[in-house]
Amino acid sequence: MYSTPSSLLFATFVAFTASASAERVGKRCTGTISSLSDVAAAVECTTININSFTVTAGETFDLELATGTTVNLLGDVTFGVSNWAGPLFQIAGTSVTFNGNGHTFNGNGPSYWDGQGGNGGVTKPKFMKIKNSGVFTNLKILNSPVHVFSVGGSGPLTISSITIDDSAGDAANSASGGDPAGHNTDGFDVSANNILIKDCVVMNQDDCLAINKGSNITFQNNKCSGGHGISIGSISSSVTVSDIYITGNTVTDSDNGLRIKMDADATGSTVSGVYYTGNTLSTIHKYGVLIDQSYPDTLGTPGTGVILSNVQFISGNTVSVDSSATRVAVNCGSGACTGTWNWSGLAASGGKTGTVNYSGITGFSNTGTTTTTTKSSTTTTKTTTTTTKTSTTTSPTTSKTTTTTTKTTTTSASSTGTVAAYGQCGGIGYTGPTTCVSGWTCVYSNDYYSQCVQA
Ligand SMILES: *[C@@H]1O[C@H](CO)[C@@H](O)[C@H](O)[C@H]1NC(C)=O
Ligand SMILES: *[C@@H]1O[C@H](CO)[C@@H](O)[C@H](O)[C@H]1NC(C)=O
Ligand SMILES: *[C@@H]1O[C@H](CO)[C@@H](O)[C@H](O)[C@H]1NC(C)=O
Repeated sequence: MYSTPSSLLFATFVAFTASASAERVGKRCTGTISSLSDVAAAVECTTININSFTVTAGETFDLELATGTTVNLLGDVTFGVSNWAGPLFQIAGTSVTFNGNGHTFNGNGPSYWDGQGGNGGVTKPKFMKIKNSGVFTNLKILNSPVHVFSVGGSGPLTISSITIDDSAGDAANSASGGDPAGHNTDGFDVSANNILIKDCVVMNQDDCLAINKGSNITFQNNKCSGGHGISIGSISSSVTVSDIYITGNTVTDSDNGLRIKMDADATGSTVSGVYYTGNTLSTIHKYGVLIDQSYPDTLGTPGTGVILSNVQFISGNTVSVDSSATRVAVNCGSGACTGTWNWSGLAASGGKTGTVNYSGITGFSNTGTTTTTTKSSTTTTKTTTTTTKTSTTTSPTTSKTTTTTTKTTTTSASSTGTVAAYGQCGGIGYTGPTTCVSGWTCVYSNDYYSQCVQA
């Protein structure tokens, strides 16, 4: 086993993942679903129409689809109430299109809500388990019992124009002891690769987005309110998160704006490459930006088992917090945050200054309400090592189109040594070694990140 050539290992891995994604050839027919008993026959077809119906309580509406299937929702679907773990709905298959046509999945949340979510009270089913590639679009989710979307798989998958309306859970009910009745109603929990989530609206009582693992995940032009903001994490042990693009989102009336939360006791994990562009955060009640390696504590004793690198505020991010809230706080374990983070694209106002205890941040001063006028002396020393590289990226929005010219120029070779497998080996602001260990090659991923991959 250990002597298997790496190319053979790779081939085996590809074959395994291909079969794991369950490619299935369907029939050129149209299946119709008006009850769960129609599902088995309908999923033989590559076109499926779903009429309005009620899903039997305690059962999953499970669509294991043939490759290339198109699913059209033609009416609202209501999910029966039962105290079980769920999921209420599941979809899998390669190159699948699900079009909700603006219709509603009603989870009957008020029949479960007791203010305790997944932490106690009655057992509540998770709602949507999505692991297809292709497109999932134009659906309204009403009143989720607890977590809404669990996104898995390897994509490529675009999720768009979804409205999650759990706003009725903001109010207390007879079972919630004065607390909001809805709890742990996360919008999108993502453990997946190659995912684009765009143009969605999330009104809930927990994270709008929570990325637990995966790479190449874009969250773009979404609107979040009522919950806990846009999160990466919490990051537990032995996970990799890379190349996360948080772009053009609006977060209002939420506990936090943008968070990266890493478990204090996690080991062997990396988060590398988080790029924030054009996000607007307002009426934030607790923390505007919070990067914290002490989870589940807030700003407690940080761990060192998650290596966090390349957190960049590229341009146009504005954070406005309540007067009792904290604008920006960064709590890194010793040596666990690495590289230069360019935060010139972040402007924070209102509330209190937070503590930022990572010295690798440039272009941002946490003492004022603007970012460009007051630069603290602790951050200016770093900029001298990076000024030669920035000439190739004249503007952050155009940098993607000029990648061919920047690929080999965005690194500094000032450090010696070699980079381990999967480690960072280049990118704007990066000052470490650029040579990979034997058998690995430094490959451009984006302007801010190059990585050692198998040659
Ligand atoms: C990244 O994910 C998006 C969205 O699924 C996909 O379109 C794109 O091809 C992916 N990029 C790479 C390099 O795989
Ligand atoms: C940040 O502060 C915490 C708590 O005081 C401390 O444990 C940690 O070592 C500090 N990190 C750095 C990088 O100074
Ligand atoms: C930080 O990013 C801004 C905007 O992209 C750029 O103008 C500036 O030169 C960068 N600073 C450093 C130190 O890389």
